[in-house]
Amino acid sequence: MAPARVLLIVAATLAALAAGGGLFIESGSYDIRADDHHTRLTLSIIEQLRERSIEVRARAIPVTAVDDPAGIAAGARQYAALCAGCHLAPGIAKSAIRAGLYPHPPNLSQEEVQPAQRAFWIVKHGIKMSAMPAWGKTLDDAATWEIVAFVRKLPSMTPESYRELSATTP
Ligand code: HEC
Repeated sequence: MAPARVLLIVAATLAALAAGGGLFIESGSYDIRADDHHTRLTLSIIEQLRERSIEVRARAIPVTAVDDPAGIAAGARQYAALCAGCHLAPGIAKSAIRAGLYPHPPNLSQEEVQPAQRAFWIVKHGIKMSAMPAWGKTLDDAATWEIVAFVRKLPSMTPESYRELSATTP
């Protein structure tokens, strides 16, 4: 086949796909409601998009390790005030807002957040089209690292140790 003809077929196919995509969106048939799941294909595209986007941005962030008790306690207080409603905590197994959120916020009292750079990036910048806010609008980097350090200790905490730590006074 002549190269010009091949190009024409490719261009026509792409134009047909774009028009089909436009018609699909215009028809309104995709269900955007949060009380139903995405289709498998949509979900796998979104997940891949999210993970690659975060990975390439987060890997170069230098880690600020926080291991002093005062810093961890500050992170615990912020977590109890800002995060537990969506992400739960030891001794807190549900909340009113969490039930209806899609994507569902991970239960950070059970899941390890690895690596620290990824957690820092997500907390600072948030994630589009999900309920995860960009806390960098409210918190500085130092406070964000304190929360990250605390969150990484969360799965090993008991309800009592969580309650005590998050109730300390600065
Ligand atoms: C209004 C609900 C909401 C609040 C409040 C919230 N988050 Fe989230 N968060 C989410 C949702 C939803 C996701 C999942 C997003 C997704 O899957 O795309 C998420 C994802 C995350 C993740 C990624 C977990 C992983 O390993 O994939 C971390 C870490 C996180 N949040 C930390 C926090 C911290 C720390 C705070 C408080 C400073 C916080 N979040 C406050 C809703 C919330």
